[in-house]
Amino acid sequence: MSEQGAVDRDALTRRDFLKLLGGGGLALAFAPFIDWGKYMPNPDTTALIKEKVILSDGTHANVNTFPVNHQEIITYPTTGDQVLDKEAFRKWNLIRLPEDLGGNVNDISAFRVYSMICLHLWCVWRYVPIGEIAGNDKGQCPCHGSMYDPLSGKAIAGPASLQAPPSNALPTLYLEADDTGNLWIKPATWNLYKNGIIGYGRFPTA
Ligand code: FES
Repeated sequence: MSEQGAVDRDALTRRDFLKLLGGGGLALAFAPFIDWGKYMPNPDTTALIKEKVILSDGTHANVNTFPVNHQEIITYPTTGDQVLDKEAFRKWNLIRLPEDLGGNVNDISAFRVYSMICLHLWCVWRYVPIGEIAGNDKGQCPCHGSMYDPLSGKAIAGPASLQAPPSNALPTLYLEADDTGNLWIKPATWNLYKNGIIGYGRFPTA
């Protein structure tokens, strides 16, 4: 009885092992077709609303006063909770482009907003306005040197630039300006064809 029990347990173990192998192989076979993006973290999965673009000094960003060739860090979506609002996944580079890239135009076309989470291994990168640091005019990740194009949010150098789409283009936020020039963030849709998925990427539509 005990010998038979031992045989059964062995058989079960081998059978389970083979099942595991089969299951793992099946999962790998379908891996390219799984929408991994939907399993990645995002700051919020509830319905998002239009929010003011609030600068670090607490003022409402305005097209008429935000300097050309300038960057500030903004938070979206905000919660009102000081701890949650400090999460890196809620932090974005608000960029007013340099003049030669259209930054002197007095409307939202002069602005870009990109997630601060680097698409390589999730370090926090920051856009560096042109001329602010010699030799670093695009914004560079401090971890492994990935650089991002301020016009498109696409990685143009470093390991993030070697990743396949959509993991070579940063998630973005879309802005609108009201009659007074104040900037607002349009409600985001976290999918790869709209705002993108933070930490994973985006398929640029233009
Ligand atoms: S995490 Fe940014 S380049 Fe590696």
